[in-house]
Amino acid sequence: MSGTPQPYGLLAEVTHQCPLHCVYCSNPLELMGRQDELATEDWVRVIGEAAELGVVQVHFSGGEPLVRGDLETLVAECRRLGLYTNLITSGLGLTESRASSLVAAGLNSAQLSIQGDAAESTNLVAASKRFDKKEIAARIIREAGLPLNMNVVLHRVNLSRLDAIIDVCVSWGAERLELANAQYYGWALRNRGLLMPSKVQLDEAVGVYERRKAELAESMELLWILPDYYEPYPKPCMGGWAQNALTVAPDGTVYPCPVAAEITTMNFASVRDHNLAWIWSKSEAFQAFRGTAWMPDPCQSCPRKEIDFGGCRCQAFALTGDAARTDPVCMHSPDHHLVQEALVGANEDVVAVDAEVLREKLVYRRPTVPARD
Ligand code: SF4
Ligand code: FES
Repeated sequence: MSGTPQPYGLLAEVTHQCPLHCVYCSNPLELMGRQDELATEDWVRVIGEAAELGVVQVHFSGGEPLVRGDLETLVAECRRLGLYTNLITSGLGLTESRASSLVAAGLNSAQLSIQGDAAESTNLVAASKRFDKKEIAARIIREAGLPLNMNVVLHRVNLSRLDAIIDVCVSWGAERLELANAQYYGWALRNRGLLMPSKVQLDEAVGVYERRKAELAESMELLWILPDYYEPYPKPCMGGWAQNALTVAPDGTVYPCPVAAEITTMNFASVRDHNLAWIWSKSEAFQAFRGTAWMPDPCQSCPRKEIDFGGCRCQAFALTGDAARTDPVCMHSPDHHLVQEALVGANEDVVAVDAEVLREKLVYRRPTVPARD
């Protein structure tokens, strides 16, 4: 494997079952049913192969990973192998007994998502009225002795509430808050016209972020994930394709990033047919965009090619139908007009839209089999 980078993170998407219906869901447009999910023994093998490959952190995600009754077994296997574990959860379904059994199995941390600062805004974005459960989950996480990390996806509908969202996270005892501006591929692309903030709205939110980051410097870490449509250059997505992390989907398909299932022109291998080491180092999909040799111009002759790696392959595919093109976010991309055109509407009509009108217009993530709550 000389010359092949080593992954340090595994995103284990153990299920697509989810109690929420977020309008910006990053899971594939076609979700997998429970009958397609890997069995416990498959996941145990995958975790072992990941450890051999050099992975040191396992993030259990979904859907809602708490739906899986064998999560404790998987966490315990990680602990046996010395891997750090993180639970990425909506908080729905988290009980005191579940938290204590996960901690007993060796869980190291939890990241709790919120969609807004109150029940109404949560319901508007995720079609879930259970904001109360999130507050309870935050308390359970802290009382279980885990660091409370929180995450919120930001967009036109909730950006003006940023101060209030941060207040909620402070009052719940979060140690770290990820303010993730929505990325527009997958389900979010369907709702882009309604979710894209205006430049004015965004600039105001940046001001709030900077003020609160300074105020809270001693007590809470605030992270700002850039809204890339407004940037001159794309994000260095995933630190480069197949460089340091991999995602295993519920059915065992392995991707270089959590969104790559949307690249329908590529074939991705499964842990049902190959071990992770082969997939990481030899499979066609992982090698396709690794490094810089694959890049077309303008990236190939650009001094930033080792900085942003030509941007996001999933975004290039979502916007142009060709994953090998320069990310259209880049001001040098021949497809940059696609991004500029998407911003026109967001900056023309800056009047706040009524919640009821939004509820009718937003396309909610299709329901899956209801998760246990
Ligand atoms: Fe990055 Fe390519 Fe744009 Fe250069 S041309 S800044 S490498 S996306
Ligand atoms: Fe897949 Fe950027 S989200 S490469």
